[in-house]
Amino acid sequence: MNVLLTGGAGYIGSHTAVELLDAGHGVVVVDTLVNSHEESLRRVERITGRSVAFHPADCTDADALRRVFAEHDVDAVIHMAGLKAVGESARQPLRYYRNNLDALLSLAEVMDEFDVRDLVLSSSATVYGNPERVPIAEDAALASANPYGATKLFAEQILRDLAAADERWRITALRYFNPIGAHPSGLIGEDPQGVPNNLFPYIAQVASGRRERLQVFGDDYDTADGTGVRDYLHVVDLARGHLAAVTHLADATGFRAYNLGTGKGVSVLEGVRAFERASGRPVPYEVVERRPGDIAVCYADPSAAARDLDWKAVRGVDEACADAWRWQSANPDGFARG
Ligand code: NAD
Ligand code: WQD
Repeated sequence: MNVLLTGGAGYIGSHTAVELLDAGHGVVVVDTLVNSHEESLRRVERITGRSVAFHPADCTDADALRRVFAEHDVDAVIHMAGLKAVGESARQPLRYYRNNLDALLSLAEVMDEFDVRDLVLSSSATVYGNPERVPIAEDAALASANPYGATKLFAEQILRDLAAADERWRITALRYFNPIGAHPSGLIGEDPQGVPNNLFPYIAQVASGRRERLQVFGDDYDTADGTGVRDYLHVVDLARGHLAAVTHLADATGFRAYNLGTGKGVSVLEGVRAFERASGRPVPYEVVERRPGDIAVCYADPSAAARDLDWKAVRGVDEACADAWRWQSANPDGFARG
């Protein structure tokens, strides 16, 4: 199968490209590189020994997408391109709505023009807002807590409506929980620009000495050790979830949504200790105020993906920390030095 991977130069996209190529599929990447480097795709080629067709184009630009579809025989699309920083989305809502929703609309229109209606969407556990209970199943109530989350919620709704209007579409939204870790080769991994927003990239930079200490956002939650609990998923498991989803697109028409998570909750302090074990380095921390908008506990019920997609997360947090540390140690400046 020939898969168009939008946002394919990014963190999850580069790992997904590896799994698709290793499974024998062709990969075409469209990415503006607004939050990534082309070097990640060269590394994907090194890991797999296969080549990636790269188009430095913007998914909001329908004509640019038309040129890509005219050049390649695309069978299915995995749409990952988008902006993803929650805090930035609250400060720049128009930029987030314009980029993330225009990209989806242009892509879906051009797919329709070229008779390609098999689509996997990067969605997020953020669509559950502040969940009423855990583990969270796909039929839980949906809500948005910030403009970024709203773009995911609207994206799902647009695709639900599209699939209801035309039964030729086969659409799977994957609601990722918290992806962490890196490819075991140490050649690709997460490369945050500036101060990391997310827990594990921050911990990795503390362990490497680039930052002095972690700030733990609150230890007075109603959890075993008082710190926030999340479902941390190895990015290679997540990447394989995309392979499973494209492989199973033909099983049903219409719109479907699946959680991709481990089903297990891990606290901030458990994460700190796991990274210390994996790296052999101390991770100093201080407890500070809760981060506004944070929820206490969030983890998936991943049973629907196991049932319908034959997919399960098999890697644990210790393995993810070891892989993240290998990537961080070998590439202290990320992809910047190429
Ligand atoms: P990332 O920033 O590394 O990758 C996204 C890629 O999209 C980047 O390479 C960026 O340059 C590109 N991009 C952005 N706007 C574009 C546009 N208009 N046209 C073309 N390319 C564009 O982020 P990631 O962590 O790999 O996330 C991939 C997808 O998964 C995103 O849609 C994100 O919202 C979603 N997601 C991520 C997480 C997470 O914690 N990382 C969790 C849930 C969902
Ligand atoms: C995890 C835990 C923090 C940083 C976010 C987005 C979500 C999704 C993934 C895309 C929480 C604590 C964090 C730090 C800390 N992205 N923490 N100190 O908040 O679950 O999800 O990223 O869809 O939409 O909201 O992940 O990694 O930011 O936080 O104590 O410096 O770590 O309070 O308990 P989160 P996170």
